[in-house]
Amino acid sequence: MSKTKNVIPDPILFQKTLLKWYDKAKRDLPWRRTSDPYSIFVSEMMLQQTQVKTVIPYYGRFLKELPNWKTLAKAKEEKVLKLWEGLGYYRRARNLQAAARMVVQDFNDRLPDTLDEIQKLPGVGPYSAGAILSIAFQKPHPLVDGNVIRVFSRIFLLRGNLKSGNGHQKVWDLAQQLIPQDRPGDFNQALMELGATLCLSDNPQCLLCPMLNLCEASQRGLQNELPEMPKAAETVEVPMAALLIENKGKILLKKRSQDEKWLKGMWEFPSAEGKTHEEALGKLEKHLKVTAHRKELHAVRHQITHHKINLRLFRAASTKPLKLSKDFQWVPPKKLTKFPFASAQDKLRKWVLSTSDRLLKN
Ligand code: ADE
Repeated sequence: MSKTKNVIPDPILFQKTLLKWYDKAKRDLPWRRTSDPYSIFVSEMMLQQTQVKTVIPYYGRFLKELPNWKTLAKAKEEKVLKLWEGLGYYRRARNLQAAARMVVQDFNDRLPDTLDEIQKLPGVGPYSAGAILSIAFQKPHPLVDGNVIRVFSRIFLLRGNLKSGNGHQKVWDLAQQLIPQDRPGDFNQALMELGATLCLSDNPQCLLCPMLNLCEASQRGLQNELPEMPKAAETVEVPMAALLIENKGKILLKKRSQDEKWLKGMWEFPSAEGKTHEEALGKLEKHLKVTAHRKELHAVRHQITHHKINLRLFRAASTKPLKLSKDFQWVPPKKLTKFPFASAQDKLRKWVLSTSDRLLKN
């Protein structure tokens, strides 16, 4: 990627063309029917790394249960995580609540509307700051996400890695040059909309695209070669073991602590990672002072980014009463679904519930 700055020949034409298309073609999405900064903030946190159609039902449920900064600030973390269950990247939910607490305590219940201040909130980086300031406050701040990278790589024929370093900076520079004073929020949403609906990674719909005449890549037939992506990280297998421990008809669950690397605050059948399943099982036996049957009850797979989790559930028991910290809880089967579980563990939970008649002795 060269260091020279791209200059846009006619930014006004770019803005007009894109906004005219957006006015006609935009999808009717729930967060586009509101001007409430809280609702827009929630939507933007949910939409990071997640598709619109996945977010829609979560957004509705979340706002119904936690309609404003105060209710979110006061809610139990568990409730917030339960509302987020299945959306993934749970740190976003914990950050969202921490942001709500900061808005209530430090900003008198009002979302700050400057770049400096809004970026003090947990989980708000340059993308979210641009999105929220432009959409909720009509401030002319640009944003760059995966959609914008794809759209710009084609329209301006940008080669090389645009996800980091100089290439990424170049995309931000272009976004900054293009952002209009008038309707900046619609402009940013229009860029994302184009990336989500026409300027697709596979099979871009160039013949329907309003930007066709302004797009260098499509004029040269290069749209399918762009953007040039950095090589994806190699996938790694992650063997994990989980334990089904039963006592008087209740099942032992554990809340993942704040020291864990991921999924902090989520609940699970007690689990551990290892180089092998045997190693993971050994860790659990030692830690909980239980003995596990070596024949697994059930196995599930789940991929998170480049980690391929291979999670196996084993039955375990102890001859003595277990000594457990406050992060453990004995739960009757019918209450298992009250707890927030991440995807792999949720697959185990579904299996346990579907077989609980046979599986549980009492
Ligand atoms: N992705 C991120 N923010 C979005 C928005 N406001 N509309 C559609 N897709 C988005």
